[in-house]
Amino acid sequence: MKDLECQIVSNQMVCEDTYLLQACCDFESWKPGQFVMVRINDSFEPFLRRPLGILAYHESKLELLYKVVGDGTRCLSLKKPGEIIAVLGPLGNGFRIPAGDEQVTYVAGGAGLPPILALAEHIKKGTLIIGARTRSNMPLLTRIQSITGVETLIVTDDGSIGPKALAADILEEVIQDSHLPGIVYACGPPAMLKKTALISQAKGLACQVSLEERMACGFGVCTGCIVATKSGNQRVCREGPVFEAAQIRWS
Ligand code: FES
Repeated sequence: MKDLECQIVSNQMVCEDTYLLQACCDFESWKPGQFVMVRINDSFEPFLRRPLGILAYHESKLELLYKVVGDGTRCLSLKKPGEIIAVLGPLGNGFRIPAGDEQVTYVAGGAGLPPILALAEHIKKGTLIIGARTRSNMPLLTRIQSITGVETLIVTDDGSIGPKALAADILEEVIQDSHLPGIVYACGPPAMLKKTALISQAKGLACQVSLEERMACGFGVCTGCIVATKSGNQRVCREGPVFEAAQIRWS
């Protein structure tokens, strides 16, 4: 884990309220599923760093995909190339890389796209199911549809792109003929994660979920990101954000 001053290379809107930020960075290593805590200004506003899943890191360039949801991310969206942000990371535990013979399915919904896309681009195999509200909420379409070795299925709430369906419902169809061993990776809204976990479990597939929680410190000291698991309360930032779905006590 490093706390780095990173110069922004680009920070562009890629769909409604969603930005792709690229910054020069110097990580020694990282894993898909890890995240960073971004400090946007030296001033007290916004006060806390923002947790953002890593979309990609290669050739000393960090990519973050983020949605404007409040003052912090709005401030970040106004940053221009050449400006500096402070990036603490990589943080947390990433996804388990599947064995060569494991069948892989990914499920991403809403703001859960970055870690899943990072993993799909890294593994380069499997079926990627993405759920969005509507076409204008769907970022990086061309990039997603051209990932080598990965078949992409997009669904929307209104049918403006792909079938009108929920990502977890499509999962049931995708894995009905799947063979074991297999693994499902998911990130997105809690209801989607819970349904994905139950469907995977019923089929006998392993399932890892990346949880999203409000975070203050990002490295385990404030206990502000607790999730209930079968091994007791755990910190999303430290023991997660990736957990075995079977370990989570779903509400
Ligand atoms: S954010 Fe502080 S312990 Fe997780």
